[in-house]
Amino acid sequence: MKMNFKHMKILLGTLAMLMSFNAAAGDAVAGKEKAQLCLTCHGEGNTVQGVGTPIISGQYKDYLIHAMKSYRSGARNNAIMVGFSVNLSDRDIEDIAEFYSAMDSQLFTPIE
Ligand code: HEC
Repeated sequence: MKMNFKHMKILLGTLAMLMSFNAAAGDAVAGKEKAQLCLTCHGEGNTVQGVGTPIISGQYKDYLIHAMKSYRSGARNNAIMVGFSVNLSDRDIEDIAEFYSAMDSQLFTPIE
């Protein structure tokens, strides 16, 4: 088949569709629902929930995904967080990361 202008337009349209689909990966609204339990410890924005609990609002999305997957696999071992991550699907992780990374905060972990 010879590639003509019409084919090119279809190809570009398909590519644009795939790219926008990819950009939409992670749904903050669904993420908020899935994060109800997480919010009790990690709070929202700069809320401090206790010593040793990191603020994750405003954290980079890819960092959050990496951290959750590391707990889930056991590569990052923390008794609390492994327990809260084992049942999360990749989709859950994407959505929760989207929700938290979209929030404003100054990241810190209270240590005293
Ligand atoms: C009972 C309190 C509690 C709950 C509930 C909880 N966490 Fe955590 N989370 C912690 C603590 C404590 C740490 C620090 C663990 C460590 O030192 O590795 C942590 C660490 C994290 C980190 C790593 C932060 C960093 O800066 O590296 C992420 C991401 C995270 N939690 C996400 C979640 C998500 C998502 C949920 C809900 C599915 C959740 N947490 C539920 C207490 C909690």
